Amino acid sequence: MQVSVKVGEIGRKGVDLVAIPLLELEPKADPKKRRLGRRITALDRSVGGLISAALGCGDFRGRAGETLTLYPAPESACKRVLLVGLGRESKLTSEGLRRAAGSTLNLARAKSARRVAMLVPSVRRIPVAEGARAAAEGAVLASYRFDTYRTHTSNNNKNNNSNNSSNNKQAETPVRSFDLCYEKLRDARTVRAACAVGVVVAESQNVARTLSDQPGNALPPAALAREAVKVAKAVGLRSQVLEVPELKRRKMGGILAVGQGSANPPRLVILEHRPATRAAKTRAAKTRAAKGGRGGAQPTICIVGKGITFDSGGISLKPSPGMQDMKHDMSGAAAVVGAMRAIALLKLPLHVVGVVAAAENMPGGTAYRPGDIITTMSGKTIEITNTDAEGRVVLADALHYADLRFEPQAMIDLATLTGACLVALGPWATGLLGNHDGLIEAVGEAGTRCGERSWQLPLLDEHKEAMKSSVADLKNAGGRHAGTSTAASFLSAFVGERPWVHLDIAGTGWSDKAGPYQQRGATGVGVRTLIELLRNWEPPKGV
Ligand code: BES
Ligand code: MN
Ligand code: ZN
Repeated sequence: MQVSVKVGEIGRKGVDLVAIPLLELEPKADPKKRRLGRRITALDRSVGGLISAALGCGDFRGRAGETLTLYPAPESACKRVLLVGLGRESKLTSEGLRRAAGSTLNLARAKSARRVAMLVPSVRRIPVAEGARAAAEGAVLASYRFDTYRTHTSNNNKNNNSNNSSNNKQAETPVRSFDLCYEKLRDARTVRAACAVGVVVAESQNVARTLSDQPGNALPPAALAREAVKVAKAVGLRSQVLEVPELKRRKMGGILAVGQGSANPPRLVILEHRPATRAAKTRAAKTRAAKGGRGGAQPTICIVGKGITFDSGGISLKPSPGMQDMKHDMSGAAAVVGAMRAIALLKLPLHVVGVVAAAENMPGGTAYRPGDIITTMSGKTIEITNTDAEGRVVLADALHYADLRFEPQAMIDLATLTGACLVALGPWATGLLGNHDGLIEAVGEAGTRCGERSWQLPLLDEHKEAMKSSVADLKNAGGRHAGTSTAASFLSAFVGERPWVHLDIAGTGWSDKAGPYQQRGATGVGVRTLIELLRNWEPPKGV
């Protein structure tokens, strides 16, 4: 799908659907008196007053999520006009535009409209470029489908437009072009650039979704590593995959323990974006970068993802209902891979390292057991009290490895870590914890700006106390209380003094419900937050 910014032209001949996002009227306002502005008035005239007629009836008030499709006479400039509600102006953020674009795309797709135009409204509080970026994201995100395994879809039968009787899926035609239309723009270049950023970010989020949606049989740790390397190669990232012998040599007892019950061995994947050495044209710059050691002149940031390709719980087996959802237990890893892709394509001026800890948690005859005491790469020992608390065990090694090897300015991990987070925050917010207030705030605000909400949970000394073992340095599962905080406090033991933030995406990594730009399934959450954070990177205070 081609997403472009168009200035001046609306209702071009051949457009299959023109979307008009509209604000919600005040409760007592007369719909007949709605001010439509020059553009919409002109379009209304070209479709014989159809828009003003529909609005005048009061059928459409512009509530968030409300839509109304209108069909102009055949000889009109466009085949369909779609009214899309934005809700109240006082509540509207760029997320509203993301949703409006998503709804537009979904409807267009269901109606097999191939060429779509959206009249982007100007909203006082939303900078034009930010709005363009959000709209582009909404459209690209909404176009995501996970249908590679459905044998009778329009996608798979590209040459078969005839009615297929065994096609139980609603026929959909992918949208070919999505135009963001403006009456005039003061700085079209900036708006075009913002739109392009939105496309890259959303496509990268779709990459994360594709990985997360893959079932456990299709994506064991080795395959996840292969896919990560494939993405890395395509965008010019360095990549490195540590297999079992290397994990053993580095004494990564955590990831090895979790992986040992599966026939599919674990992997540690490292993806590296190095702007200085790649961009540097002169030899001097190259040597400078080389001498600057790990990151050259640029600050280093590590992003670490939990990559449990399937979580059965291990010997502490999970109950059967819902267990299939645990194919998504590598959503943190997926977000890291997606974000690294965007970081490379956007050429961010930072040294960013993505680390993925991939393992399958299975109850095989060689599985780790409750009661086992394992030694992690850091030397710290863990008493396993529940093999289902496996995410923190693989992350213990991944975080320590990142800390030791890259000495980053900051570390951020993403993990579908605790059911407790789903209980606490539901599917509505990501759990946000860490050891550095400034970094926590920066991550939280980045999430707010890009429509990925998070909510801070505490990390107290008492939480650390709850993870102490009588036979080892730590135990991997605390009691029933404050499960998300105790899990984070466990992780904090492996980040040293590094400013670190942990995002628990157990509730937000996938969705049971479809939304305006979200199908049921993987969300790819975290990609936008990471990019928003890193595009505005400021070193955490005290570093
Ligand atoms: N992957 C799960 C967490 C999870 C549960 C994510 C539900 C999404 C939805 C994790 O590995 C896990 O099993 N955690 C345990 C920890 C407990 C044993 C201390 C949990 O949350 O029950
Ligand atoms: Mn588990
Ligand atoms: Zn898990």
